[in-house]
Amino acid sequence: MLTISVLASGRGSNFQSIIDAVKNGRLQATISLLITDNPDAFAIQRAHDGGIEHLVMQPKIFRSRDEYYQAVANELHRRGTDLVVLAGFMRIIGKPLVEAFPNKIMNIHPALLPAFPGLHGQKQALDYGVKISGCTVHFVDEGMDTGPIIIQAAVPVRDEDSEETLSNRILQFEHKIYPEAIRLFSEGRLEVVGRRVRVKGSPPDDRGLTSPSLG
Ligand code: GRF
Repeated sequence: MLTISVLASGRGSNFQSIIDAVKNGRLQATISLLITDNPDAFAIQRAHDGGIEHLVMQPKIFRSRDEYYQAVANELHRRGTDLVVLAGFMRIIGKPLVEAFPNKIMNIHPALLPAFPGLHGQKQALDYGVKISGCTVHFVDEGMDTGPIIIQAAVPVRDEDSEETLSNRILQFEHKIYPEAIRLFSEGRLEVVGRRVRVKGSPPDDRGLTSPSLG
């Protein structure tokens, strides 16, 4: 069975969607560890409630960024991690961790990459004036939101949207496509060819290419 470890910095609603998918059997996996860089992260409470071990690891206690990510990689290896899931982990991943888990680290971003990478993807989309935004699950490389794309969901932007209402609409789709991407990985169905990720077998149920409200 797939062993997952999660890295999160904040409220952890995506972490929760993965916990729930494991609980209700949609995802055959074990979540072995949460690592957070934020001792106040609500994700810690979710790990506690889900009976999942957690570690607080803050870069400031390490001599360098590389040492930090090497230490994180060591903890992940120690738990037999097959897949590292970034769920609102607010840092760019350093080389020692990317190299320790090649094409085995996933991230979710609240925009249709390559549009609006980095912080506040939803606000960037609103400010730009796009009519459709969404969310993207991708493999992680050393860049900022640049790795090969696994699943995207398109979400409409409404005239009356604020950053909050758009973020909430996108979040509902994040909670669907993240567990789905992990399920495909767990079934050995993701094949990375250059920048492209092929899904082997039948197409994912919940690919979310268009949201219901887009018709
Ligand atoms: C999500 O919007 C995710 O796309 C982004 O950070 C946010 C994390 O939210 N990477 P949560 O902590 O999972 O609730």
